Amino acid sequence: MTTWKDKIDLDRLPKHIAIIMDGNGRWAKQRGKLRTFGHSHGVKAVRETAEAAAEIGIRFLTLYAFSTENWNRPQSEVNALMKLLVKTIHRETKTLHDNDIRLLAIGDLDSLPDVTYRELNDAIKETSDHKRMSMILALSYSSRWEITQAARKIALAVNENKLDPNTIDQKLFESYLITRNFPDPELLIRTSGEYRISNYLLWQIAYSELYFTPKLWPDFRKEDLYEAIVDFQKRERRFGKTSEQVIR
Ligand code: IPE
Ligand code: IPE
Ligand code: MG
Repeated sequence: MTTWKDKIDLDRLPKHIAIIMDGNGRWAKQRGKLRTFGHSHGVKAVRETAEAAAEIGIRFLTLYAFSTENWNRPQSEVNALMKLLVKTIHRETKTLHDNDIRLLAIGDLDSLPDVTYRELNDAIKETSDHKRMSMILALSYSSRWEITQAARKIALAVNENKLDPNTIDQKLFESYLITRNFPDPELLIRTSGEYRISNYLLWQIAYSELYFTPKLWPDFRKEDLYEAIVDFQKRERRFGKTSEQVIR
């Protein structure tokens, strides 16, 4: 039986895949359980996806785990998610070591509860020498927050005469974003059948290929990631040019 994995052209892999992990609540509801049950079951999907990506040679995987707007959910769900994060990061550090994966995080990390922040920082430090893939958790992240704080830092630098406003171009602006050390994602995946971006990496996905699947996040497995990559490899990325110009 040929698998999706067999169909991937390893010479044309995306360097960076970003995922909006959505549908945990609905997954739990379908089973008559509380939403947090779905979040717990989303952990396996994270592990599988990280392993699948590292296995074939993806260099960056950015996972939307908690948005700025998610703070507005019922306090009990927010607390459960923060607790789950601590537990998961602690337990899965071994998975990161075994797969040579470096953990990183983007977002307003100061707004996280102390224990969550500490656990996260410990795992980031412990895995900092790993080279195969970077797994970037977007936590308390939203793109408008990121872009606004970049604008503020640029304004301050101008104010302090450290930056000439005439030198502000796209490259300079990007250097003020928290994703400055990562290439833009070539592929963005969203699970759960929603067709929206929900304030995720708005600047960075300017030319990303978008892939939507009805699968709910807790059901997402290695082959689902590979299927998305095969789909991505069938696309013609034109970047504004004509088809004739980009055919090699
Ligand atoms: C995604 O699942 C996880 C987070 C946003 C933290 P949801 O919790 O959004 O699940 P649905 O979309 O309500 O099914
Ligand atoms: C986006 O999912 C955020 C994460 C996956 C962490 P949401 O479930 O919060 O997005 P909306 O509210 O459906 O747009
Ligand atoms: Mg959702």
